[in-house]
Amino acid sequence: MPNLLGQPINRVDGRKKVTGRALYAADQRFGGLLYAYPVVSTIGSGEIVRLDASAAEQAPGVVAVFHADNFPKIRRIKEAMDQGVKTGEARPPFEDKKIHYAGQYVALVVAESFAQARWASHLVHVDYREEKPALTLDAGLKAAAAEDAEKKDKAGKKGGAGSGDYKRGDPEKAFDEAPVMLDETYTTPVEVHNPMEMHAATARWEDGKLIVHDSTQWVVGSRTTLAKFLELDPKNVTVHAPFIGAGFGCKLFLWPHTVLAAVAARELHRPVKFMLTRKDQFTAAGHRPQTRQRLRLAATPDGRLVSLRHDTIAHTGHAGKFEESCGRGTRSMYSCANLGVTQKTVPVNVGTPTAMRAPGAAPGLFALESAMDEFAEKLKMDPIDFRRKNLADHDEDKKIPWSSNHLAECYDVVARNFGWAKRSPGIGSMRDGREILGWGFAAAYWPSEREKATVRVELNADGTARIACATQDIGTGTYTVFAQVAGEMLGLPPEKIEIVLGDSSLPPGPISGGSMVTATVVPTIARGCREALQKLYKGLTAPGAVWAGGDPAKIARTEDGFTAPSGARLSWPDAFAAAERDRVVAETTLAPGEEEKKFSFHSFGAHCVEVRWDPGIARLRVSRMASAIDAGRIVNQKTARNQVHGSLIMGLGMVLLEESVYDPRNGRVVTDNLADYHMAVHADLPQLDVTLLDHPDPNNGDFGVKGIGEIGITGVTAAIANAIYHATGRRLRSLPITVEKLLA
Ligand code: MOS
Repeated sequence: MPNLLGQPINRVDGRKKVTGRALYAADQRFGGLLYAYPVVSTIGSGEIVRLDASAAEQAPGVVAVFHADNFPKIRRIKEAMDQGVKTGEARPPFEDKKIHYAGQYVALVVAESFAQARWASHLVHVDYREEKPALTLDAGLKAAAAEDAEKKDKAGKKGGAGSGDYKRGDPEKAFDEAPVMLDETYTTPVEVHNPMEMHAATARWEDGKLIVHDSTQWVVGSRTTLAKFLELDPKNVTVHAPFIGAGFGCKLFLWPHTVLAAVAARELHRPVKFMLTRKDQFTAAGHRPQTRQRLRLAATPDGRLVSLRHDTIAHTGHAGKFEESCGRGTRSMYSCANLGVTQKTVPVNVGTPTAMRAPGAAPGLFALESAMDEFAEKLKMDPIDFRRKNLADHDEDKKIPWSSNHLAECYDVVARNFGWAKRSPGIGSMRDGREILGWGFAAAYWPSEREKATVRVELNADGTARIACATQDIGTGTYTVFAQVAGEMLGLPPEKIEIVLGDSSLPPGPISGGSMVTATVVPTIARGCREALQKLYKGLTAPGAVWAGGDPAKIARTEDGFTAPSGARLSWPDAFAAAERDRVVAETTLAPGEEEKKFSFHSFGAHCVEVRWDPGIARLRVSRMASAIDAGRIVNQKTARNQVHGSLIMGLGMVLLEESVYDPRNGRVVTDNLADYHMAVHADLPQLDVTLLDHPDPNNGDFGVKGIGEIGITGVTAAIANAIYHATGRRLRSLPITVEKLLA
């Protein structure tokens, strides 16, 4: 029998991808296909006074130019995440003539070719009434205060507490009375997901039904939300996303371009493709908002936390709302009786931000884990010892035990692998020739969530199986791990198993977000496979059948087929023949149950980082990164490790390079391309030494999988910043930490 679980098998879809047979949303070609190209606002705030599309309408190949005056009216919808209705930007396209951010779509040119659409887009003339955009948190706060004052005058209304606000014990009093305290503020800039594949939607209508190839992390959500916007029965909308060139969060929810493609196709009775340019990715498809976070910590002299406060502000947009919950992890990561989190969200004139890999926690743990490092130094404690002293033996936020928690082991394993014991604590005390070494540590923490999912399992007489679920593989190896699990359950090699995903008409599956697909669908596949086999066994034991009267539960899948308790054997095809079936089908739904209330599910981790600072030539490099991750049972050592590698690389970019810069005059993105927006590339990378602990979670269904997609980027940012401090003595609390800032 195959022993597949945990094996580092290659991606089952790898060959399709490298041979170009994996078709993405923008690769779709249909007869009569039209191409859409947007005209975007060049101002950051104000309104359209006049829009003249006449020259564009007469340009070669142009079929239509849509804008606020001629686009069919679309009503705003009521969002309900649990029902699959969620937009990236709540404002329907061309709702009115208001401009909320530079880059907002003001017109859409549809033409016979991409080049014709793009050319004609330059011929659309727009006059604006321009206002000064509010781009920074302070400008946003000022504008919001002015608006509030106006509203209060009218209605006497007051704003309530933020949805992320939380308190236990008396953090103020405990802080004031504590002998040792820390009070520091950290900031993170706007970052942009920049998946390799741009957002794209190719829409067509057939007999009143809408079919969209959408680059989405959620075919079910894209389908349901589109149906809501277009006032259609969801049954009449199908969304396909068999392959996605990554998402990192920017493809979770429905953005205006998909709505525009669908409506344009309906109006013009032809298929329409709308692919964003890299430039548009920076404005109209989400980003991680800027954050400012104040951390206040207090402890006893021997390093027990007695008060912890995390006050956060992040921006949102005017065309849609998103809350970055930086303090969510702070509530339960460490043991502390007196704890407070506040979460303020302020609108500014940029596109709507959205979830970006480990939303909340990536910036949140940069602040918290930097503060923990600063505080350890104040206490004259080793940063790992300080954290060990404050480990939470249960979730003090939800007041329930952890489902499984191997954080302490993560500390030990990563410290051993990295050689942490050889660290000398003095600033700049570790040298290698001209270079000063800095060693930093931080912990990682991310919820491990599950959702309801349905899986259809089909067993075929020819020794193949088919597993279908309306979830999707965003490039992370979902096809592969599903084939492994089904293979393990059915006793079939992965190549005999067809995994069908990325089609909203399949049985409903989860969003590829929150690191939850594997933990959600693996137990569902396991149960579905068991049920399908039982159906076959019932056929074999039915009256008059080959093993009539036998107990179906006692039949076993063995090397060469199936074995009855009597020792009698049937090969796979003979069993199907004996049961008079070509195919056995089971459809299984599994939802998280009581265990969700009894246990707190999280993944954990720890990182050690080495940086090298050469002051002579002002060169800063990350030279080593080591991580230990507790993400439950590891289904595939290669794809899982690859997820953590990706997160570490993204974390490196977040600390040293990434920042989306807006022009203060007009809110336009200055860094709207991959030359000016810097991300970590291979040349920036050190050795990555990742250990996956591989302890199954006893409460998370078959195999005990936990989430692994996002945990790696949590904390690693602080580990790098802490290493930079250890090398240079410069505590930089504002990302990115550039050489210019180090030299200032
Ligand atoms: Mo992740 S930010 O939930 O794609």
